[in-house]
Formats: sequence, C-alpha cells, structure tokens
Amino acid sequence: MQDQLKLLVIGSGGREHAIAKQLAQSPHVSHVFVAPGNPLMNNSRDISTVEISENDFDALKGFVFDQGIAWTFVGPEDALCAGIVDSFLADGLKIFGPDKKAAQLEGSKDFAMQFMDRYHIPTAKYKTYQSAAEAILGLKDFAEPVVIKADGLAGGKGVVIAPDKKTAENEIQLMFRKGQKQVVLEEFLAGDEYSMFVVLGQNEYRILPMAQDHKRAFDGDQGLNTGGMGAYSPVPQLSQADYERMVKEVVEPTVKGIWQAQFNYCGLIYIGMILTEQGPKVIEYNVRLGDPETQVVLPRIASDFAELIDAAVNHQQLPQVVFSSKAVLGVVVASAGYPKAPKTGQKLPELKDEDDVWIDYANVLGEPQAITGNGGRLVTVVAQADDLKEAQAKAYQTLEKYKFEDCFYRHDIGYKATRKTFE
Ligand code: AMP
Ligand code: GLY
Repeated sequence: MQDQLKLLVIGSGGREHAIAKQLAQSPHVSHVFVAPGNPLMNNSRDISTVEISENDFDALKGFVFDQGIAWTFVGPEDALCAGIVDSFLADGLKIFGPDKKAAQLEGSKDFAMQFMDRYHIPTAKYKTYQSAAEAILGLKDFAEPVVIKADGLAGGKGVVIAPDKKTAENEIQLMFRKGQKQVVLEEFLAGDEYSMFVVLGQNEYRILPMAQDHKRAFDGDQGLNTGGMGAYSPVPQLSQADYERMVKEVVEPTVKGIWQAQFNYCGLIYIGMILTEQGPKVIEYNVRLGDPETQVVLPRIASDFAELIDAAVNHQQLPQVVFSSKAVLGVVVASAGYPKAPKTGQKLPELKDEDDVWIDYANVLGEPQAITGNGGRLVTVVAQADDLKEAQAKAYQTLEKYKFEDCFYRHDIGYKATRKTFE
C-alpha cells in the first residue's frame, strides 16, 4: 500500500464520521475528506469536509482529480443506487461500493428476494403485489402479524409490521394511495436480529465484527421503526455454533451468488439476519455499512481498515481482519419527533470526547460550542470498555452529564446482551 494517501468519504452522518476517523488512523493515510459531511467533522486535523452534494457525481469526480484522491468510500445507499460507482469507474477512478445494478440488492426488495431464491439463501416467505386489491386478497396466505414492505429505498422506515389483518389492509391501502407501485408481503420472522458486515474483494471476502442494532424508537423495542437508535459489538449472546451457521448458510451462499451473478461488487454487504428456531434467515441486504452499527463495528477492528479497503479497490489479496477484544456500545441522540416529524434547530450541549468515549456527529450544524440539530439522528455517543456492561454504563454516564432539549434517546441500548450475559 502506498503512503500519504488522500481519501474521500461520501455522506454526512454518524456512520461517515466513524468511517473517516477509522481511515484517518491509518499510517498510510495523510488526509480524509468528507463530502458533504457535517460541520462538526472538522474538529480533527486530518479530516475536513467539502461542500459537494453526494449526488453531484461530476463535482465529486472533479474534486477527486484536483486533489489526487487515491480512492473514494461511499457511505450511503442513495448514491450507490443512483450509480456513483458506474460513474467513477467510467472515468478510471477507484471507488469502494457496488455498481448500480448490484445496489438493487438494497434498492429493490423484489430484486433481493429473487436473488435469495436463485441462490437458495434462507429468508422469509414473501410475495410481491402490484395493486392494493391483489395484496389484500394475498393476505389470506400469511399468518399474523404480517410484514408489509414498500419496494424501494426507505432508510429502514419502509416496513410495517401489522399485528392483524385489518391493520394490514389499512396499511396496504395507505401505501398505494401514497403512490407506492408495488408492495411485498412477508412472513414474520421471530427471533433476535443481527447485523453482519462483509467486505468483498475480487475472489475472497472478510467478515467484520458483528453488531446488534435497535430499530424501534423507544425503550423496550416500542414505537416506530427508525434507521437505528443504538448498537453494540460484540454480541456475546450469539453462540459460536449459531455464528458458524450464519456464515455457512447465509454469508457463503450470498458471496458465491454475487460472484456467480457476476455483479460488479467491490464493496461491502450488510446482511440483516434473524436467528429463528429453524436457523438464520435474511431479512434484508444493504449494500453499505449500517448506521449506527458502523460507529461500534469499526472501533473493534484492530488491524488497519484503510489497508483492507485499499486492497479491495486495487484487486489485491485482502489482509486478515484482527478484532479487538474490547466491547463498544453506541447510543443515538435523535431529534424529538423522529422518525415521523423531527424538530430542527434545537441547541445541543457541547459534547466532549473523553477517554474511551467519543462522539460521532450526524445531522448537526454549527461548531462545538454552539451546535444545533438539523433533524433526525443528531449524534451517536460511543463508549468502549472491557465488557459490554461497562461500555453501556460509560455511554449512559456520559449522556447523563448533559441536558438535551427537544431530543430523545433510548435508555436500554445493549439490554439483550447485558441481561443475558451479566444477570
Ligand atoms: P428492512 O427495511 O427490511 O430492513 O426492515 C426493517 C426492520 O423491520 C428490520 O430490521 C426488522 O426489525 C423488521 N423486519 C423486517 N422484515 C421482517 C420480518 N420478515 N420479520 C420480522 N421482522 C422484520
Ligand atoms: N441501522 C440500520 C441500517 O443502517 O440500515
């Protein structure tokens, strides 16, 4: 790997802040730019933001040429689904992520389901419908609760879990009335949910530390589905045998499928899985890292993350990934009203990094002494310790030092692990 590399990260959230910080730690990297980033990412010397929108591919490519950027790491799915990789590769620029076609694994539930059918990857029973009337008729083939998914990108918010058929009927009608062209009905999978991240090279792959997200807005997994309210890694309640089953029954056929289908996929796949009584089943593919999982997964990589991505974009042999033995837990502070109608403009306290505690910024404006929220998820407070219970205590002790107005966070991030492991 060369030295003094300048890199570009696309995106603006807590995930991208964590990616930029992790890449900047590499002795091979001299500077990381983030486009468009957020103003609070400019706190460290080796990271700075560039005011170019993540969808302005021409301006991004111009910046890459001018600055001599070695390669670009794409954070969010929107740019991938819009073809940023195709656009960069057409101009001979190195970029980490799948092309537009392969990005449909996330962009279209239907495409992902067909892929899983073809490569025999365990998932929920499902069916796609083009009209409300058909979907309502189709309800007879599904048990309660019924999972209803809008086809297309929804940032984890396009899923409704209807407790009974009547609610399902109303939701289906609402989706089509709002302009949805097709919906997927899906069997409900009962069990714990896990997020697994796999870096794909030319003909090999590397699995990153596993994490668990908390999708619901409120404590005790109540409230609406969100993009994710907190995460932790590792997940000690998962047995080695179940982990190995996940690798054998899900990761291996997924990776082989991507290669057999000859997707142009030098990037990362995020496999969302539920461990059911019949074994692991996929509930979603994403073609990028998760937010907030990234904020806890990357700090657990003790080897050089930039070296791994550099090898992937240069089609070289991937180095082994070394996991740290620490536990990392992150709590998201979101704007009041998120995910339906988040407030904006609230003042946030001046949050400070401490030993083994750090802040990843997302939808915020201003500078450290005068931060305001800009809607949605605002910051992730991340803590690291020898075990999860300690990391959890540290994250919440930090949060309790501050007064948040017009914001909320969950008080139980990590409860599934700490309850099962320590009590
Ligand atoms: P998705 O947008 O497919 O990632 O779904 C968002 C969230 O809804 C998932 O993370 C799960 O918590 C939940 N979910 C989605 N599909 C199912 C399913 N078939 N069974 C149970 N829960 C599901
Ligand atoms: N945290 C879930 C996601 O990034 O999709």
